[in-house]
This record gives sequence, C-alpha cells and structure tokens, in this order.
Amino acid sequence: MDILLIGCGHMGSAMLAGWLRRDDIARVVVVDPHGAKHDQPDQGDRRVVACADASGITGNFDIAVLAVKPQVMNAVCADLAPRLSADVMVVSIAAGITLTTLAKHFGDRPLVRAMPNTPGAIGRGITGYVTNQKLTSKQNDAVVRLLDVLGDVVQVPEESMMDAVTAVSGSGPAYIFALTEALEKAAIASGLPVDLAVKLARQTVVGAAALMDEKKDTSPEALRKAVTSPGGTTEAALHVLMENRALETLFKKAVLAAKTRGQNLAQSQ
Ligand SMILES: NC(=O)c1ccc[n+]([C@@H]2O[C@H](COP(=O)([O-])OP(=O)(O)OC[C@H]3O[C@@H](n4cnc5c(N)ncnc54)[C@H](OP(=O)(O)O)[C@@H]3O)[C@@H](O)[C@H]2O)c1
Repeated sequence: MDILLIGCGHMGSAMLAGWLRRDDIARVVVVDPHGAKHDQPDQGDRRVVACADASGITGNFDIAVLAVKPQVMNAVCADLAPRLSADVMVVSIAAGITLTTLAKHFGDRPLVRAMPNTPGAIGRGITGYVTNQKLTSKQNDAVVRLLDVLGDVVQVPEESMMDAVTAVSGSGPAYIFALTEALEKAAIASGLPVDLAVKLARQTVVGAAALMDEKKDTSPEALRKAVTSPGGTTEAALHVLMENRALETLFKKAVLAAKTRGQNLAQSQ
C-alpha cells in the first residue's frame, strides 16, 4: 500500500509510527513543513519520503490521509486535489470537515471522514468513521487497517452522527482528565498532602480504566455496584454524584455543548 500523509503532528506521527511497524506498507510520502516525525527506532526507514510541501509529491498513491488542523484544510485540499490521481481514496481525520466539504475538492473519489482520539497515540484510542458511496469493500477494509494502528475502529452508520462521535470519544479523553483533576482537588480538600492526592487520584482513574478493559463483559454499572456496599462510604459519595441524576445531567449538557460546537464549526466551513 502506498500512502500520502499530509500533516505529521500528533496524530499524523502516531499513525506513521504504526504503519511503519507493518510490512504491507510499501511507501509513505509525508508532507509537513517539519518533516516526518515519528517514534520509530529506525528513523531512517527507507519507505518514508518527507517533503516540506505538496510540490514535492511524486507518483501514485492508494490512500491520501489528511491530518492537518481543520483551519488549513481548505487550502491544503485545494492545493492537493489537482496532484492526485482520480482513483485515490482520501481519508480526513480533521474535526468538523464533512464529506461534502471533501467532495468539493476531491469530487467522486472514495472519501472517508474519521474521528480518532488522543489515546490513539499509544494505540489505545477509538476511531469512528463514515464514507461516501464510492468505496469498494476492499477499500473499506483498507480504511480499517489504516486506522487500527490507533486502536479500535468503528463504522458510524450516518454522517449526521459524527458530531456526537466527536463529542463523546473525540473530546472524551479530556473529560476523564478533568475528572482526575477534580478528584485530585477533592483529595486535597479532604486533608491529604498534594503529592499523595495527585498519586491517589491518577492511579485510581488508571486502575479503574484498566479494570474496565480487563472485564470487557461487565458493564460499568455492574463494576460500580461491585464496589458499593449498602450503607458504605462509596454509596455516600455516589449519592451526592448521582442524586437527581446530577452527574448524568452534567455529562449530557457537556456532550451536547461539544456536539453543538462541532455542528457550528462544520457549518462555518
Ligand atoms: N489531537 C487530537 O486529539 C485529535 C483527535 C481527533 C482528531 N484530530 C484531528 O487531527 C488533525 C491533526 O491534529 P494534530 O493534533 O495532529 O495537529 P498538529 O499536531 O498541529 O499536526 C498538524 C501538522 O500539520 C502541519 N501542517 C500545517 N500546515 C500544513 C500544510 N499545508 N501541509 C502539510 N502539513 C501542514 C503542522 O505544522 P505547523 O505546526 O507548522 O502548523 C503540523 O506539523 C486535526 O484536524 C484534528 O482535528 C486530532
């Protein structure tokens, strides 16, 4: 497989590092003003060709992956489209860039809009994607293989759901970091020294996530109930968090705010 990667920052370099661990990737041409950054021990992998801008692109590709910031996407697409063959599949991971926007530049080519998240940098993310009608089943398989270096990959039934996907899993890691910060602050407020509070809060979140990962067939609700004895300490805290569905309402509001922001950003493209 020959890949063109436009943008090699956080997400682009994570994907590049994953692709280079595989032997079915024949060539990756990277376009980025900073070159091809990736965390491979073999930084001199001969399959990678780096160019500072799109004028250095030569040859044909199976897939072009766009991993630049949404703000520069229009300019990048306008510059790139005339340089690509008519059958290349174009995959964008930029937040809020719709299939319609991609089609304005890339026409009838097979198009994919994907939304990864930051745990993808360590292969533990989840990526939702939608496609236009032009992909063959082989190309659909190739998309999954391309994105699974970032972790799980799920096909989203309709593009209208992508803003919700972004609001849940795209932005979601930040909610968990914010939750960890809040637990830290509560630990300090309850009289613990800062170092201890930070360690307890962080490892509690890491451990709970690892437990959920290990017990894939057990729902979060069942895991919660397993640590909640009637009349005990956990129940006292959960009563505060869950009374009148307080936590659920807060998360619904937060996810809705992110979804609305995503819709507004998409409309402004
Ligand atoms: N990070 C996330 O959590 C996350 C999650 C889901 C989706 N995404 C999406 O992934 C995309 C990339 O995000 P990121 O965090 O990887 O961004 P990033 O770290 O800023 O990487 C973008 C890279 O593209 C380079 N670039 C800028 N203009 C370019 C051009 N015309 N041609 C080629 N390269 C160019 C940038 O260089 P400069 O630094 O000089 O501009 C930078 O090296 C975004 O669209 C974002 O919405 C990110």
